[in-house]
Amino acid sequence: MLQIKRAGHSTLTTPDIEKMVDYFTRIVGLSVAAREKNRVILATKSGLEAIVLERGSAVDAPRLSFQVAPGSDLGEIASRLKKAGLKSERRSDITPGIGEALAFQDPKGTTLEIFSDFDFAPEDPNFAGVMPLKFGHIAYQCPDVQGVVKFYCDMLGFRVSDWRSDYFAFLRCSRDHHTVNFLRNEKTAIHHIAFEMRDWSDIKRACDMLARNNITLTWGPIRHIIGHNIAIYHKNPDGVVIEFFCDIDQMFDEELGFFEPRPWHQDRPQRPKVWGDDTPSNWWGPMSRQTPQSDHAAPKPNSEPARSPALAHARKRQAEKKSRRKTRPSK
Ligand SMILES: [Fe+2]
Repeated sequence: MLQIKRAGHSTLTTPDIEKMVDYFTRIVGLSVAAREKNRVILATKSGLEAIVLERGSAVDAPRLSFQVAPGSDLGEIASRLKKAGLKSERRSDITPGIGEALAFQDPKGTTLEIFSDFDFAPEDPNFAGVMPLKFGHIAYQCPDVQGVVKFYCDMLGFRVSDWRSDYFAFLRCSRDHHTVNFLRNEKTAIHHIAFEMRDWSDIKRACDMLARNNITLTWGPIRHIIGHNIAIYHKNPDGVVIEFFCDIDQMFDEELGFFEPRPWHQDRPQRPKVWGDDTPSNWWGPMSRQTPQSDHAAPKPNSEPARSPALAHARKRQAEKKSRRKTRPSK
């Protein structure tokens, strides 16, 4: 089994690469790390490559890169994959930061590029746009969520942080609650891409930045319940949903097995679990008005926000615990 440590970058195809470069540099605040005829590599201001744009006829996210421990032998990893029945291919010059990678497909057809060593992008002195800290997570929709989750856990070393019922999985490869999401849907497609912000004040600044550029939030600000991240959502010029978030649940110690306790958690302690179908999409802020299966999508315009059902849920659980303690026979 591989042990993925972090997500590298997502490769996005777009029919209008210049429009997308403008969006990702001027609005999102990424830097151009390299530019070629048919692709542009974009990095955070801290030098982490995050997005690779490629010219293409359709909007898609065909490749995703992941880093394993620096110094890992890619040849040895290829042998291990082969033993597990997985054919991989050695590729060079993936990006300016990734010289060597091992490429293979996951069960839903996304090409994964596994690399061990990475060079940070050169410093960009121009501060502009939202300027996220890093590429936080990517969510895909696909028909066989269980199969994809099994592959990511068994082959890549991901851990399941939470499920919503049996159709929405949140997987971690580091202390962050999730780096990939899989949502059941008939069609395989990208669902959204999320960038991590430093804190709530940066989310507020992002709201102002988007508004200044006439980009409407499609959802938020909210605090989710699953993952507990504060988040805002909008659509980029290609129609891909982009999330900016902060405050996501952290599993600092896998042996302890619980997320770092926070006052807004529903459980004490908050451990990985299966959340019921009826779990509200968020703790506060406008609720998703979509069917549960399209949770994380934008609420319908002009819908009346419902508030605080999560608090009721937590109080109900506390009351149930209290009544169980009362009915216990005394010693
Ligand atoms: Fe997300």
